Amino acid sequence: MSATPDSTSPAIELVGIEKAYGQAPAVRHLDLTIAQGEFFSLLGPSGCGKTTTLRMMAGFEFPDAGSIRLDGHDVTEVPAHRRQVNLVFQKYELFPHMTVRRNVGYGLKVRRVPRAEIDDRVDEMLETVGVGAFADRRADQLSGGQQQRVALARALVNRPRALLLDEPLSALDVKLRKRMQLELKSIQERLGTTFVYVTHDQEEALLMSDRIGIMNDGRLLQVGTPREIYGTPADPFVADFVGELNAFEVEVRKVGGRVSGVVDGSPVDVPSSASTGKRWRIAVRPERMEVGPAGRKDALHGRVTELNYLGHTLQYSVETAVGELVVRAGAGDVEREPGSAVSIWWAADAVIDLGEATP
Ligand SMILES: Nc1ncnc2c1ncn2[C@@H]1O[C@H](COP(=O)(O)OP(=O)(O)OP(=O)(O)O)[C@@H](O)[C@H]1O
Ligand SMILES: [Mg+2]
Repeated sequence: MSATPDSTSPAIELVGIEKAYGQAPAVRHLDLTIAQGEFFSLLGPSGCGKTTTLRMMAGFEFPDAGSIRLDGHDVTEVPAHRRQVNLVFQKYELFPHMTVRRNVGYGLKVRRVPRAEIDDRVDEMLETVGVGAFADRRADQLSGGQQQRVALARALVNRPRALLLDEPLSALDVKLRKRMQLELKSIQERLGTTFVYVTHDQEEALLMSDRIGIMNDGRLLQVGTPREIYGTPADPFVADFVGELNAFEVEVRKVGGRVSGVVDGSPVDVPSSASTGKRWRIAVRPERMEVGPAGRKDALHGRVTELNYLGHTLQYSVETAVGELVVRAGAGDVEREPGSAVSIWWAADAVIDLGEATP
């Protein structure tokens, strides 16, 4: 029953895709290859072109230039109903008065699949997504989370080669959303179906994806594993959009024979690309910064302006020579009250390179 890839080609390939609405470009020269069985997320701010990209993969929208291949076959001109992909929307669009079973079996019935086969496939899929117990209930008698599962079953029962999901969890409350994220991921792993998942929620993308593509203003800025995207962002926009960031400028100088960034009289590590005599922009994530007693050598010095207790972490705001920095420490650490003088430091590999500072 799983959608075993029958092809050694990538599941989805977009080559040089361009799409404009009137004069306004929505997607600009986009190249992307998604592997068989991959959980791939498109992440970016509102209006960056995620839905447009997904709708072109589905065949509901056609590119102005470029080509699209599914399982190695060119489908650029092929309409949605003749592509082996299914799209799940944010609004589930179930038939409210039909039972769950009939909702899920509807597409197979339209395609004149034999009755016995429909029953088997529907039952199996209802179990897979965890709504077997509600099979005979009407769709409008289900909670939001249950309806989302039914919508998922209705798409997966067609055994699509790829499932495209456009912000499918955004209507759910935070707790249910978190549970559905883990469940969706585990369903995807069990079935082995390629998932392309659109979201503007960075935590969701980091949690669920094998790889993430970050979009902004119609462009794909970086594609990588969650670790790569978070740890080595390729670009200031990516660095800032995914996770929190303390970004600041340092003066690059030779200190004791080593190229260092100098702030507040102290040397700090800089990326190997930084050259002496320049000003460089670097960034460090809040959880990679350490906070300790004042007076430490080779550290930034500052004063705590705020301390917030977040349950599992302590979050400090610290006023320093490079501006206000956010630092997170374990909740078991010594608490440093507002007003305390502190030192801040970090490991060399915590430094994110944002390139030469523009004057
Ligand atoms: N049918 C349309 N006609 C005209 N412009 C459109 C159409 N659909 C999208 N656009 C424009 O194309 C750009 C990309 O839209 P798209 O829906 O792909 O963004 P998105 O990344 O999915 O955003 P969101 O996170 O808000 O859903 C936007 O500027 C949008 O206004
Ligand atoms: Mg959208």
